[in-house]
Amino acid sequence: MKYGYFDDDAREYVITRPDTPLPWINYLGSDGFFSLISNTCGGYSFYKDAKLRRITRFRYNNVPHDDGGRCFWIADGDAVWSPAFLPAKTPLDSYICRHGLGYSVFEGSKDGVSASLTVTVPRGTDAELSKLVLENRSGSEKRLSVYSAVEFCLWNAVDDSTNFQRNWNIGEVELEFSDGRSTVYHKTEYRERRDHYAFYSVNAPADGFDTDRDSFLGRFRGWSEPAAVERRTSFGSVASGWAPIAALRNDIVLAPGESKTLVYMLGYVENGEDDKFSAPGIINKEKAHAMLSAFDTPERFGAAMDELKAYWSKLLSRFEVRSGEEKLDRMVNIWNQYQCMVTFNMSRSASYYESGTGRGMGFRDSCQDLLGFVHMIPERARERIIDIASIQFADGSTYHQYQPLTKRGNADIGSGFNDDPLWLVACTCAYIRETGDFSILEEPTPFNNEPGSEVPLMEHLERSLNYTVTHRGPHGLPLIGRADWNDCLNLNCFSRTPGESFQTCSNFESGKAESVFIAGMFVKYGREYAELLERMGRNDEAAGMLASVADIEKAVLEHGWDGEWFRRAYDAFGRPVGSSENDEGKIYIEPQGFCVMAGIGGCEYGRRALASAERYLGNDFGLEVLSPCYTEYHEHLGEISSYPPGYKENGSVFCHNNPWVTLAYCRVRDGEGAFRLYTRNAPAYIEDKSEIHRTEPYCYSQTIAGRNARTYGEAKNSWLTGTAAWSFAAVSQGILGIRPDYDGLVIDPCLPGSMDGFELRRLFRGTRYEITVRRGENKGMTVDGRPVPGNKAPLTGASVCRVEVVI
Ligand code: BGC
Ligand code: NOJ
Repeated sequence: MKYGYFDDDAREYVITRPDTPLPWINYLGSDGFFSLISNTCGGYSFYKDAKLRRITRFRYNNVPHDDGGRCFWIADGDAVWSPAFLPAKTPLDSYICRHGLGYSVFEGSKDGVSASLTVTVPRGTDAELSKLVLENRSGSEKRLSVYSAVEFCLWNAVDDSTNFQRNWNIGEVELEFSDGRSTVYHKTEYRERRDHYAFYSVNAPADGFDTDRDSFLGRFRGWSEPAAVERRTSFGSVASGWAPIAALRNDIVLAPGESKTLVYMLGYVENGEDDKFSAPGIINKEKAHAMLSAFDTPERFGAAMDELKAYWSKLLSRFEVRSGEEKLDRMVNIWNQYQCMVTFNMSRSASYYESGTGRGMGFRDSCQDLLGFVHMIPERARERIIDIASIQFADGSTYHQYQPLTKRGNADIGSGFNDDPLWLVACTCAYIRETGDFSILEEPTPFNNEPGSEVPLMEHLERSLNYTVTHRGPHGLPLIGRADWNDCLNLNCFSRTPGESFQTCSNFESGKAESVFIAGMFVKYGREYAELLERMGRNDEAAGMLASVADIEKAVLEHGWDGEWFRRAYDAFGRPVGSSENDEGKIYIEPQGFCVMAGIGGCEYGRRALASAERYLGNDFGLEVLSPCYTEYHEHLGEISSYPPGYKENGSVFCHNNPWVTLAYCRVRDGEGAFRLYTRNAPAYIEDKSEIHRTEPYCYSQTIAGRNARTYGEAKNSWLTGTAAWSFAAVSQGILGIRPDYDGLVIDPCLPGSMDGFELRRLFRGTRYEITVRRGENKGMTVDGRPVPGNKAPLTGASVCRVEVVI
């Protein structure tokens, strides 16, 4: 069953009913100001950091799930309704939500009045804009009261939801009703140490306002039925402590056929320390005024929308395919790339599942997100790589996360995830292959952000790899540390204390627990690094690296191969994990993906490992993490066995690692296998199972409950997952086979029999490669009409390069 449809021409997903199984959200903004917005207009906004600069409140685990957010009520006679259904909950005569790239539109109507609400964050502006168009489609005059409200968060989202003895005393606002607009300024803590404020404004004189939440709502009421709205009035409350809000009322009269437009802005401003006040205690509002004037008419709003759309058209034109597979095209050309932008921006910080207060930017997460992003905005990717590398320690290990506002490593979680450093090699090599920018390797980059500790980025990569080489266990395999990619396989943590974090408890430093997965990573990325060295003419070092790679590859072949698949690890007592010797967790997916991608054991082992993965882990939605699931808690394995069977790391389809296997299929040249797996959980392919899958059909989720779960097929944790980047890599570089290389663009498709070819445009090093791939007798490649041996289209420097490939 579906709850909407894809409108590919508009690049929108159109939701046709408000009662989607879960809130289906969208992301607005891509620089500093970000908003999350659901299909009922719920959500929240923040500036750069969802923990430290939260602008509006959101109550996770609220009932109803999606209450609050930006609220609009239209009072028309006896009826009060909301264009996006919530918060009023009044049944509408019609409802539609269009989630587009960086904007959302809500169209609701009731009793002859239609409302069209468009919400966006304009490019380069720290504000969310909402344009509300009301039209009287009835035969008689309409007298409407239009209310709009937001609830401010007192900046630090953790404090805001915990420290009430203070919070309920500090809230402050300032009001300004002049120049034909009405603005509420939120200035809590501005009088002392903060130099930033927020504001909410409408581009018309308001007929009433409230800024104290409890006055506006009234006792025993929620956002669905504010007292002020019910009484068609405003109380003029001025917040002093408690919960500051901005609630504005505009009374409008619409003749039959007439329409009126209001433009609202929720903005964020930083003033210099010496520039905070225009008079004692009064905010200097200059910047807010400038922002407001820039968008105070429907025309200016329209221009911002046009600019946003042009921006996305340009970004997406860098990689566009026409394959005859409608769903593949819509994922590749629109939604998968869009999600890559979101994961690049957010890492795992803020969604409806990630509270934005726990995990900031993850080291491994952000490195992997870059794999799906480097082709879009290489300059931002470059900056991110340096930010990430700057939280590394001198011994090559690294902080696991950093806070986006401060860019400092997060000491609460610390380090010890032994896969982390290798991901830096992965993303840096990907960046250079995309851009040819070797100069990034010379960029002075500190350790742990300490001034004076800077070394060229290249040395960070070297130390990353060296960390693996020097941290190995009894079988010569890399030590796992607290965990590798699978955060829940905690082999050095023997936790008995309820609530103790499995990620930070390592009370059993065995010095023995090893990871076959990290070994696979090392073989793959060690080779990539060796190639990088060779390209720089550092052949001796390259040879040294290849010797280490061979060493670890040998260890995998001797101790990591179980007979029909790759083992997962060795535990703290030197016993295998993910082996036929185990009763549960006999086979894990991760090493099948990574060791086969790395080519360990060649196609022979690769095909056997993939056949085992399909046989034991395959379900309708992809490949599960492991099988059989753990049925009880195993202290020596950690969090993985804390999840009920079929959920999360204990046997769900953990979507992130599925594209590794898709790429592994490509590595052994199995186009059927690759495509089969790709289509099992690519959102557009399972749209018609939305009532089972439940999360948004236009983006990947982290997990889909496995066969052992009671809710088999149900996805959770949508949006912020490494699945986005890896799926894009799998489909673009594996199945379609378009791979950037240092000196050209490799075109090496691995298609299923059902696909005859495709046409593709790829912007690469300033040249638009127009590529046609088709099946035929005379196999080979021509570049601008001339036959070229091999499968790499050279760098031509021209603005366009035509490539024809016959497979
Ligand atoms: C989750 C993992 C996550 C980890 C760190 C665990 O509870 O299952 O998926 O990576 O927490 O936040
Ligand atoms: C989610 C985390 O963000 C990611 O870093 C980790 O690899 C996966 N969970 C698997 O545990």
